[in-house]
Amino acid sequence: MIAEAIVSRLNLDQGSLAGGAVTERHLADLKGCFADERAYRAMLARDNPLLYRVSSLEPAHGEDQLHYGLGVLMPGKVGREYFLTKGHLHAWRPAAEVYVGLRGDGFMLLEDEASGESRLLPLRANTVVYVPGHTAHRTINTGREPLVYLGIYPAAAGHDYGALATRNFRKVLIEQDGQPVLLERSAVS
Ligand code: F6R
Ligand code: ZN
Repeated sequence: MIAEAIVSRLNLDQGSLAGGAVTERHLADLKGCFADERAYRAMLARDNPLLYRVSSLEPAHGEDQLHYGLGVLMPGKVGREYFLTKGHLHAWRPAAEVYVGLRGDGFMLLEDEASGESRLLPLRANTVVYVPGHTAHRTINTGREPLVYLGIYPAAAGHDYGALATRNFRKVLIEQDGQPVLLERSAVS
């Protein structure tokens, strides 16, 4: 049997994926993610802006199937730290993922779960990032426009936010003299 949602339209201007289930994350949903707690609380006291939206399609279920989602991450900063996604490990740790950059300018921050080693990789149009299994991943928008990307992952991957909620990523991407600079979290918080 051929799954029904086998073709879907992307609209990069609207950042939409037809038929996708939409999840929105606002600033209040990212408590504990930004290094500068004071800047976070001050911003939240003024406003609770939308940081990102993911439209996910799950055409079929089962361990040999794929799911995918269109992410739209807004531009902006909390203090000097660029807007970012929560970041996660896959609940099924071996699950890898492919990110396809479609629009905007940013990075993916990867962190190997076992060694804690970090990699910062560009994510923009015409760029594909392969996220290996057992690797925490977070998207960061360093540009002035929304960062739009597609993530394709095993249907069985799942999300594990809990492991990072307590310790967070070791590295932080901040703006310094107009440029993104990757620093140790301990150096900025
Ligand atoms: C799925 C995936 C992406 C993210 C999206 C939002 O495995 O990696 O679709 O879910 O970039 O980020 P999180 O899920 O960390 O809030
Ligand atoms: Zn993922």
